[in-house]
Amino acid sequence: MRAPPPGTLGEMCGIVGYVGHQDAREVVLEGLRRLEYRGYDSAGMAVVADGALTTAKKAGKLANLEKVLADRPLPAATIGLGHTRWATHGGPTDRNAHPHLSADGSVAVIHNGIIENFAALRAECEHDGVEFASDTDTEVAAHLLAAAYAAAPEGESRLADAMRTVCRRLEGAFTLVASSAAEPDTLVAARRSSPLVVGVGDGEYFLGSDVAAFIAHTREARELGQDQVVEINRDRGVTVTDFDGGSVEPTSYTVDWDAAAAEKGGYDWFMLKEIAEQPQAIADTLLGRLGPQGELALDEVRLSDQELRDIDKIFVVACGTAYHAGLIAKYALEHWTRIPVEVEVASEFRYRDPVLDRSTLVVVISQSGETMDSLMALRHAKDQRARVLAICNANGSTIPRESDAVLYTHAGPEIAVASTKGFLTQLVACYLVGLFLAQVRGMKFEDEIASIVADLRRLPEAVAEVLARMDSVRELGRSLADANTILFLGRHVGFPVALEGALKLKELAYIHAEGFAAGELKHGPIAVIEEGTPVVVIVPSPRSRGSVHGKVVSNIQEVRARGARTIVIAEEGDEDVVPYADHLIRVPRTPTLLAPVVTTVPLQVLACEIAATRGLDVDQPRNLAKSVTVE
Ligand code: F6R
Repeated sequence: MRAPPPGTLGEMCGIVGYVGHQDAREVVLEGLRRLEYRGYDSAGMAVVADGALTTAKKAGKLANLEKVLADRPLPAATIGLGHTRWATHGGPTDRNAHPHLSADGSVAVIHNGIIENFAALRAECEHDGVEFASDTDTEVAAHLLAAAYAAAPEGESRLADAMRTVCRRLEGAFTLVASSAAEPDTLVAARRSSPLVVGVGDGEYFLGSDVAAFIAHTREARELGQDQVVEINRDRGVTVTDFDGGSVEPTSYTVDWDAAAAEKGGYDWFMLKEIAEQPQAIADTLLGRLGPQGELALDEVRLSDQELRDIDKIFVVACGTAYHAGLIAKYALEHWTRIPVEVEVASEFRYRDPVLDRSTLVVVISQSGETMDSLMALRHAKDQRARVLAICNANGSTIPRESDAVLYTHAGPEIAVASTKGFLTQLVACYLVGLFLAQVRGMKFEDEIASIVADLRRLPEAVAEVLARMDSVRELGRSLADANTILFLGRHVGFPVALEGALKLKELAYIHAEGFAAGELKHGPIAVIEEGTPVVVIVPSPRSRGSVHGKVVSNIQEVRARGARTIVIAEEGDEDVVPYADHLIRVPRTPTLLAPVVTTVPLQVLACEIAATRGLDVDQPRNLAKSVTVE
């Protein structure tokens, strides 16, 4: 498929569809609530009742749509579809909200992604006399579907037939869901490079951009592949074909999360709950990784031991927080495997023509498994014949499906937009990949690996200890709520932790923040420090390699001498930092390479508290979406 052109705007919307015996209005609205975390700025839904399609849609949060529904309820129905839109192609207005209807009102469509050739298709529809009711690319699909439906032979799966005809004409990335007033028992959906899962209940069927949309009703799911159309019908159940109508057997799986995992459970924010879940998430990610002879096991490895032994270069490719996990992974991977590792943001990777071949391993890290930049980097790597290993949290998502090997993190659903448990479990997964490669390539003795695995197994407890002491960090957060800028310094693996601390603060609290390699400060950035500038320093263990600890202690003195308010994260027993710390945050002693798992936690809590004190929406920061499915 062609990638959306760089800079094109698109949508990362939430999609829900339902056919069954319950009140579709309730099921769809509830599904939309569970997808709110994806980030959106308008919402809408449609039902089919008494041979007609009725829609309701509204700009703003779901509460606005609920008001519309209270004033003008949709008719009772057992089939419906709903959408939360992250506006791009056309502003976040009522008229651009989905669903979109065909001109004759016979077909309703919701959409996630970008129809790249929509301008040409729109011109064609307009030439045929169609008047457009919105500025979206989506609306062309509604008009084309109505025309294809009218032209399709009469029969059982006419809507699916029409969908296939339309999809063959569409360029770009899209998930489409459609319903027809003439088919009150059927929803049809199509998928190309954009997420869609099917849920199968007892005599009822669901569609969702992810399983959170239907997890309260069923954990039985069907995975859809690239360029496939699915029909869900009250009597016929689930039928999947490719875009040419060839029959496809979808892969079935059971979601290993329950509905409670996708609820706040008494916490003010999903983010707080997810921070608190980290010890368990790490333990779950480690669980079952050791085989009977102590060998490490990945989830899916479609590579031979020989292919793994032939690897002479590793690229780690990811975005945002996952990229920071990659930066940390480099230290461990190079140290344990002696293979050179490069780490790169996915959005840059393929555009600079990296040198890749059969002996290159590209590790793609993605919590959602749907991030378009990462997916495109993966496809580029495969085109160049490199091997791809995915580290991913969302079972059945696109990135692991297209990779040669997969290691799933078992963090459970991450609902807050800002990644926390996703990040810590990515780190743990990276360590496991490093040890796995070291083992396959004979770079480490069994007892060395066993000793590192034992260190990994102590991490849940260490993170729990950090969490137990977070009251003083919260208090500190409240005192920093008015800061204009906060700097983060680290060295060695502490440097990416500093980057992650700064990212969390920017995205949650909208405060300017930057992470620096502590040694780099004197080469320029130290000039920005003024009286009272808060500077967070992640101090390496006194036992770490070389004299890096002593150098960071000197860096703390340097910034303090220039007026900085120092916030120091240091391990227990490190007395050297005490005289220079305005605030001292203690973390348990942890082997250097694994230390980011504990030192990141106070930074998550700090950002969360500062944002909450500023009265911001911690779970859904402005302008952000959870799963970035456009380039
Ligand atoms: C930041 C954050 C983002 C994601 C990034 C990649 O808190 O969550 O930076 O890490 O968008 O997302 P995934 O891991 O789903 O590919």
